[in-house]
Order: sequence, then structure tokens, then C-alpha cells
Amino acid sequence: MKTEKTLSILKPDATRRNITGKINAKIEAAGLRIIAQKRLHLSLAQAQAFYAIHAERAFFGELCQFMISGPVVVQVLQGEDAVAKYRDIMGATNPANAKEGTIRQEFAESIEANSVHGSDSAENAANEIAYFFSDLEIVG
Ligand code: CMP
Repeated sequence: MKTEKTLSILKPDATRRNITGKINAKIEAAGLRIIAQKRLHLSLAQAQAFYAIHAERAFFGELCQFMISGPVVVQVLQGEDAVAKYRDIMGATNPANAKEGTIRQEFAESIEANSVHGSDSAENAANEIAYFFSDLEIVG
């Protein structure tokens, strides 16, 4: 087991429904610490750059439009095996396939409006954290 950091985004469907606290409670109940957090309204250019890895996918345009449709909350989570642990408690990308008790099973509206994003590897986590936060903003 290793202490890791991962990048989390509470998406516009979560801020619209005012359920960011409910999601944070599930994050903390899982033993992850929110060591940085801020609310942003992304520009189209910021959303496109963040999701550049998906630029060739058919859903890229709609994904970016959704991500700028309202505010998001970006977070750094820290804990034992934080990358895998957060993906575990988020549940499957498509909420129809998400296990009982996961964030997406409880809260997601659709594969697009799926309430949360979490980094998929430690390497991507480092890049995604650096995209949104300076070292001074991360207080472990
Ligand atoms: P996320 O973990 O933020 O990474 C990329 C996002 O694209 C994903 O969550 C989904 O919300 C979104 N998305 C929209 N349509 C699809 C799709 N058909 N397959 C996978 N991801 C999709």
C-alpha cells in the first residue's frame, strides 16, 4: 500500500443538484482526504485541454460542452492507493453498470452526466493535479 494523490472533479450535474457535500461525505467515508478543493467554471479551451486524451472520440464535443454547462469542483484526494480506491468508489463510467453503493450508482444521471471524474493512473493523476493546482494550494 502506498499513499497517493488523485485528481477528482465533481461535474456540473453534481453542482446543479447541490449534492457536492453528499459526494464529499462518501469520499471521506472511504478514507480519502480532500487536501485541495476549488470551484471553477471551465472555459471551452480548458475543458478541451483537460480531456485532450479523448479528442478523437465521438463524444468529445458533447463531453466538453457538458463540462462547461455549469460550475465544477476540482479536488486533490490523498490516501492509501488513492487512484484505485477513488475509481472503486466512483463506480463504472456508465451508471447503468455501476455497483451498488458507488457514487455513480447513487447519483449519476447518465454516462455523460456521471457526477464525478477520477484519474485513471498515478501518472495521469500527477498531470491532472498540476493542470488545476499549484503546490501551494495542496495542503496534506
Ligand atoms: P470521465 O471519467 O470524466 O472521462 C471521460 C468522460 O467522457 C467520461 O467520464 C464520461 O462522462 C464521458 N463520456 C460520455 N460519453 C461516453 C462514452 N460513450 N464512453 C465513455 N465515456 C463517455
